[in-house]
Amino acid sequence: MTLKLTWYGHACFLIETNQTKLLIDPFFSGNPLSPVTADQIEADYILVSHGHGDHLGDTVAIAQKTGATVISNFEIHNWLIDKGIDNVHPQHIGGGFDYPWGRVKLTIAHHGSGLPDGSYGGNPCGFLFYIEGKKLYHACDTGLFYDMKLIGEEGIDLAILPIGDNFTMGPDDALRAVKLIEPAQVIPVHYNTFDVIRQDPNAWAVRVEKETAAKVNVIQPGDFIKV
Ligand code: NI
Ligand code: MN
Repeated sequence: MTLKLTWYGHACFLIETNQTKLLIDPFFSGNPLSPVTADQIEADYILVSHGHGDHLGDTVAIAQKTGATVISNFEIHNWLIDKGIDNVHPQHIGGGFDYPWGRVKLTIAHHGSGLPDGSYGGNPCGFLFYIEGKKLYHACDTGLFYDMKLIGEEGIDLAILPIGDNFTMGPDDALRAVKLIEPAQVIPVHYNTFDVIRQDPNAWAVRVEKETAAKVNVIQPGDFIKV
């Protein structure tokens, strides 16, 4: 079974199985890279890695429109309930849950998670998906951490890693992350959305493919790959 992953720029992905649409960090409004707007998006589940506006994004509006179940840490779950979103499933770091479409485990991420209104958003996370025999790791916003090696021990088919620098890992540390995780494939993300995170993903791809066994997929916002 193949999974279709569409990138909308920044950290935002839509993962599609045969039956289910999983939307990760739905940043459309204010995202200069996204070729679509929030009202054009359908989702069955929305996963939110942390409370920052460029990741929480249009979660409330899309959840209201689609009725999608929102998966996040417990603190963001509580904040969403206060906003009137009641189709929510809280998890927390280290915990996995089996959904009808597969399993997701929340992983550590070294970052912040304050919500746009100043509310406490708990700890940020990444996501480790187990879907139809595939293992996908979306690091979301994080610096480099050595425990990426533990995540890699699971045998990762595809890793989605930030390379933008300034707010997250930059190209050098993202290359070190690939060496720790040893994924079969990588997609670089969280770059070129804003001036402070300008990077050349093709130059990074050359370095990664020279120094590791991973295949790098540099994709354009709105494009997809199949895994
Ligand atoms: Ni952030
Ligand atoms: Mn971010």
